[in-house]
This record gives sequence, C-alpha cells and structure tokens, in this order.
Amino acid sequence: MYTKTVISSALLSGLAAAAPAATSQGWPSHEGHQVDGQVQGPGSAGYSHASSYSHSSYAASSHGASSHGASSATTSPAAASGTEVAADQYGNVAGYSDASAPFASYTPEPLTAVPSSFGLDSAVPAIKTIAPSTGIYGPDPQRSSLPTGATSHGPYSGEPTTTGAVSTVAISVTIPTLPANPTATYYNTNGKLQNDQPIPYTPAGGLGTNGSLPRYMVESDFDYESITLGLYQEWIELDLFNNGIAVFSDEDWAAAGLTPEDVSLISFMAQQEQGHATLLSNMLGETAPPQCTYDYPFTTVREFVDFNQILTRFGESGVWGFINHLDSREVGQLLAQSIATEARQQMIFRQMSGLHPMPVWFETGIPQSWAWTFLAPYISSCPENTTRLAWQNFPALHVPNQANINRYSPNDTGLYERADNRTSSPATMPPQDESCINLNKTGYGCGPAIGHNRSEPLSFAGKQVLLEWDAPGQAVGPNNSYVTAVSSAAGEPAYVAWASQLNLTYTQLTVTGPNTGYTYQPNGTVYADGAAIVNGTMFIALTDTDMFLTPFNLSMINPHVIALGIYQAG
Ligand SMILES: *[C@@H]1O[C@H](CO)[C@@H](O)[C@H](O)[C@H]1NC(C)=O
Ligand SMILES: *[C@@H]1O[C@H](CO)[C@@H](O)[C@H](O)[C@H]1NC(C)=O
Ligand SMILES: *[C@@H]1O[C@H](CO)[C@@H](O)[C@H](O)[C@H]1NC(C)=O
Ligand SMILES: *[C@@H]1O[C@H](CO)[C@@H](O)[C@H](O)[C@H]1NC(C)=O
Ligand SMILES: *[C@@H]1O[C@H](CO)[C@@H](O)[C@H](O)[C@H]1NC(C)=O
Ligand SMILES: *[C@@H]1O[C@H](CO)[C@@H](O)[C@H](O)[C@H]1NC(C)=O
Ligand SMILES: *[C@@H]1O[C@H](CO)[C@@H](O)[C@H](O)[C@H]1NC(C)=O
Ligand SMILES: *[C@@H]1O[C@H](CO)[C@@H](O)[C@H](O)[C@H]1NC(C)=O
Ligand SMILES: *[C@@H]1O[C@H](CO)[C@@H](O)[C@H](O)[C@H]1NC(C)=O
Ligand SMILES: *[C@@H]1O[C@H](CO)[C@@H](O)[C@H](O)[C@H]1NC(C)=O
Ligand SMILES: *[C@@H]1O[C@H](CO)[C@@H](O)[C@H](O)[C@H]1NC(C)=O
Repeated sequence: MYTKTVISSALLSGLAAAAPAATSQGWPSHEGHQVDGQVQGPGSAGYSHASSYSHSSYAASSHGASSHGASSATTSPAAASGTEVAADQYGNVAGYSDASAPFASYTPEPLTAVPSSFGLDSAVPAIKTIAPSTGIYGPDPQRSSLPTGATSHGPYSGEPTTTGAVSTVAISVTIPTLPANPTATYYNTNGKLQNDQPIPYTPAGGLGTNGSLPRYMVESDFDYESITLGLYQEWIELDLFNNGIAVFSDEDWAAAGLTPEDVSLISFMAQQEQGHATLLSNMLGETAPPQCTYDYPFTTVREFVDFNQILTRFGESGVWGFINHLDSREVGQLLAQSIATEARQQMIFRQMSGLHPMPVWFETGIPQSWAWTFLAPYISSCPENTTRLAWQNFPALHVPNQANINRYSPNDTGLYERADNRTSSPATMPPQDESCINLNKTGYGCGPAIGHNRSEPLSFAGKQVLLEWDAPGQAVGPNNSYVTAVSSAAGEPAYVAWASQLNLTYTQLTVTGPNTGYTYQPNGTVYADGAAIVNGTMFIALTDTDMFLTPFNLSMINPHVIALGIYQAG
C-alpha cells in the first residue's frame, strides 16, 4: 500500500514534468520535421542552439520527457555532489483494479417523496450584525453603479481626434534570445529543505514573503498597460452581460433553452464585473480609463452566449499571458483572484452554448496585443481623453469555414456562417432542421447543458482550414482611432501558429491567392496519449516563422505575426 507521502511526491514529480521540454532533449521522432505538412512544437529546425543552455536548467523537463524515451539528466548540483537522492517516485497509485471500496457501493433510493410546502422553518439562534462602513474593514466604493436605463450601441461614425497606439522611442524591432537566467538553478533531488527556514513551518524563498509591505499598484509601463487593457476588457463585459439581459425577452431566453435562473446568473456575472472594474481601476490610479460604448455582433440569445464564450476566452487567456510577467506581485495576486472568476464565466457561457465546458487540460495564455486585437473591433467609442493603449492591433485572420456550433452536423457548415466578419463574432443560426439546439439526442444535441458529447466534432485533426487575412493599415477600435499593423521584421506568411493549452504548434500555410490560403488542423497531444492540443475556443496566427516558443516567451512571436484569428475547435 502506498502512503500518503508517496502520493503527494508523485504529484510533485508530475509538476516538474510540466516544465517545457528542452529542444535539445527528447522528441527524437519530431525533431525539425514536418509530418503531413505539420511542424511539431519542439525541435523546430534552427533552434538547436538551445543545447548550449546549462543542463541543470532543464533537469526538470528531462524528467518530464523521460517517459518519451529521452535519457534522464542527473547533472543538478545536488546530484553531482553526491548528495542523497530520493527513490524513484514515478507511477500511479495502486488499487484501481478490483478495488475494495465498500464506501462507494450505495444504491440510490427510489424517489417516493418530495417536499411540497415551504413555510417558516425552525429558528436558529441569530443576532443583528452591522456591516462596517468605515475604517480598514469598511468597503471601498465601487467605480460604477448598478446600470440604470439603456446604453447606446452601434458602430462609430466620426473622425478620431487622435490616432494610433501610445508609444515612445522603440529601442529595437525584435527581442533577441538570451541564455537562461544564471540564478535559475534550484533543483531538489532528495526531497529535503536545502536552506535555513525564516520561521518554523516556512521554507526559505518566495517573493514578497519577508514582511515588506505590499503595494497594490502597477510598478512599470508593462504593468500599467497590461492592467489598463484588462480594464478595457472588464468594462465591455460589464456592459455586454447587462446589455444581453436588457435586450432579450423571457421568450427569447426560453427559446434558447435558458431559464430565468440562468438569466439571473448572467446578471450576477455583470455585477462581478463591477467589482473587477473597480479593482483594476484602483490598481491603476487616476488615469484608469472609464467605460466606453460598444458595437456588438449578436442578434439572438444563442449568438449572445456564443459571443460571450469567445470574448471571455480571450479575456481570460489575455491575462494568463501576462500575469506572471508583471513587475508587481501584489497586482498579480489580486488579478489572479478576479481572473479565476472570469474563467468560471467562460465555462458557464460554453455550457449555455451547449459546448463541452472544458475540452482541454490547460487554459492557454496569449500576449496582450492578441487580446487587444480581438477586443478592439467591438469598442465603438470611448469618452474624450480616455487613456489609450500601447498594444498592437494585428490584421484579422478569417476562417471562412469556421465550424458552426449550432449545427448538429458541423461538417455541413457553409462559408462565413458568422454574425459578421470580425474575428470573434459568433456563429449564426442554421435552418431549424439543421440545428442542434432543440435536438434531444445524445451526441447531437447542443442545448444548454452541464456537458455534451459531440459525435460529429466541430473540427478534427486534418480538417482543411480555409483562411483569409486582411491587409494592415485598417482603422479599428474606439473611435476607429487605432490602426492595424504588422512589424517591419515580418516576412511573407508561411505558417499558421496554433496557440492552445501549453503549446504553440505550427502548420504550413498554402497560399492560393492574394491574402487567401489554407492549412490543415494539426494532430498531436499535449502529453503522450493525453488530450489533443487543439480543442475548445483557441487562437491562430499567420506567421513567417516556425520559431519554437513556450508559454513564458510566447510574446516573442509578435514581430512575426501577420494576422490573428480565433479558431472554433471541438
Ligand atoms: C506541450 O507543452 C508541454 C509543456 O511545455 C511540453 O512538455 C510538451 O512536450 C508539449 N507537447 C508538444 C507535442 O509539443
Ligand atoms: C471618440 O468619440 C467620442 C464621442 O463622440 C468623443 O467624445 C471622443 O473625444 C472621441 N475620442 C477620440 C480619440 O476621437
Ligand atoms: C522559448 O523558450 C524555450 C524554452 O522553454 C526555448 O527553447 C526557446 O528557444 C525560446 N524561444 C526563443 C525564440 O527564444
Ligand atoms: C524583501 O523582499 C523583496 C522582494 O520580495 C525585496 O525587494 C526586498 O529587498 C526584501 N527586503 C529585505 C529587507 O530583504
Ligand atoms: C475535443 O474535446 C472533446 C471533448 O472532450 C472530445 O470529444 C474531442 O475528441 C476532442 N477533439 C480532439 C480533436 O481531440
Ligand atoms: C480633456 O483634456 C483637455 C486637455 O487637458 C481638457 O481641456 C478637457 O477639458 C478634457 N475633457 C474632459 C471631458 O475631461
Ligand atoms: C466529416 O468530415 C470528415 C473528414 O472528411 C469525415 O472523416 C467525417 O466522417 C465527416 N463526418 C460525417 C458525420 O460525415
Ligand atoms: C465576410 O466576408 C466574406 C468575404 O469577403 C463575404 O463573402 C461575407 O459575406 C462576409 N460576411 C459577412 C457576415 O459580412
Ligand atoms: C429526451 O429524450 C429522452 C429519451 O427519449 C426522454 O426521456 C426525455 O424526456 C427527453 N427530454 C426532453 C427535454 O424532451
Ligand atoms: C462521451 O464521449 C466519451 C469520450 O469520447 C465516451 O467515452 C463516452 O462514451 C460518451 N458518452 C456518451 C453518453 O455518449
Ligand atoms: C493523429 O496521429 C495519431 C498518431 O500518429 C494517429 O494514430 C491518428 O490517426 C492521427 N489522426 C489523424 C486524424 O490524422
């Protein structure tokens, strides 16, 4: 029988295996080669210089890769100096075949009675308690109040008073690759503490753990621009969720299979956004941008919830992309606590759209400029003097044969079954006899549900994916005051980068005409025999490179991005 200690150690070794695999180790079958036109993640040709990195900085990932046949590196400082090494702790806990588990052998009782009268209950002891309104335990004010009355929406028609992203002097066009940080060497081979503890039960290390006072404010231009972008996102969500509730009737909701209780849930999500907008405003200070007016793509409830699952996907992923790069750990702390809520919203909107709630093992992170590219086309105008952003707006990458989530047979999706041509706009409604929304058949129905199987998937490895992309130089965003741009470092489009889960995978682009081409959905799993990399609502970029990137250096792709889109996998 395994002890509990062994179980948690096995979990820890699983965490070590999560570290990105070194280019120089493992994956012999993938290295630098294209399988059916597909370039696999690690081992892209031209990146073998990673082998000059010190072995110890990749010790963790060599363990992760060992199950794939790579030799296990043991060149960490402790191991090299002959320190005690822990026993092999890999493998699963025994006991899942013919388990003796009497606690689980219960038979649901036949239903013979349900409560039918709901009057006064027994009384429990209680007192009157006053919520504090002042002092450090009194709540800070909200920046926005509960919405009253209608907001105006629609496209912007006018001339912007200013144009382009905020900028100063740009020192370079691309960021060069550097060796691993010399301090990135900690590796524990004996499972013991390696250093003195500051106090009992507290291991040495960590940031912000030495008693220095927290300061919940942005600490750099990077922080400021990231949180300002986050605030633009929170504001649209606040307006969007309320707007859907304002414009759709009880009958509209019911026709989409959503109950008044579901609508209350969306209403509560809008209130969560009041809190998030207040929090982010407080971390920015007096120049925090206010709420803007928006231009939405939906005309039905179903399109509304689909748009929400896409919008919250790039909102959430946008934060995962930058949160660990923030200078301010304090800001990262509070932001994580708000994005955990946003992640739940995303999942619920997927369920309301009849999609699998989370068909992935990991939620992906994307660079800020990607999130801004997806968001900006839905902002109509912002008030005079609104703080502007420094991020890039990439040209749109369209997927003409994007799968329609409302079809029971997504293979039958026609070209451009989208509410409009902005990349994050929802799928349109097919004819009733081709719709899955009111279909009560396992594997085919797609009405709101906790979970659904799709017998015919939305998309699949090897699917031909048609692509069209816009030229740079188009006006987008609030007041049409930003301009889509591509870096001067970018060459001709040659690859499609698929950003999903922990991975960036490339496929080759076949160009068929001006700004038109196709590729094939890649095959491949995050870990061997695990979940497919491509699934859920995810991101695709047209690039001139297949440079190897991992979640923490993904933004190095930006100077190579020619167009950016959303891909509806599933
Ligand atoms: C996906 O990313 C994980 C974590 O970086 C890595 O260990 C794994 O090898 C990657 N999978 C593929 C197929 O590239
Ligand atoms: C955007 O439009 C609003 C409303 O017309 C106006 O108040 C604001 O000054 C404009 N901002 C820019 C940057 O053009
Ligand atoms: C990104 O990080 C990975 C290590 O996780 C490294 O192998 C790769 O070379 C880096 N890419 C660039 C362009 O620096
Ligand atoms: C405490 O830790 C912070 C980083 O979290 C560091 O900047 C600061 O210098 C440390 N203070 C002392 C007294 O060591
Ligand atoms: C995507 O996830 C769903 C739900 O888990 C699964 O049925 C489907 O096979 C997955 N798609 C791919 C390409 O693996
Ligand atoms: C915008 O800024 C200008 C210049 O500082 C100022 O004159 C104007 O009153 C401001 N407008 C608003 C609505 O605050
Ligand atoms: C959808 O298309 C794929 C690829 O051509 C095919 O393998 C699959 O059988 C099709 N599904 C149905 C239900 O026809
Ligand atoms: C989107 O663009 C394509 C190609 O330009 C066009 O055929 C289609 O009608 C457009 N769809 C919408 C909803 O505007
Ligand atoms: C769906 O079909 C099942 C089996 O035929 C049936 O028991 C159930 O009541 C149906 N549900 C609805 C909402 O029609
Ligand atoms: C749902 O899909 C899973 C994975 O593809 C499959 O194992 C399971 O049998 C399916 N369940 C039903 C009820 O179809
Ligand atoms: C994906 O790759 C696996 C492993 O090589 C293979 O068995 C499977 O047939 C491939 N799927 C498709 C759709 O090409």
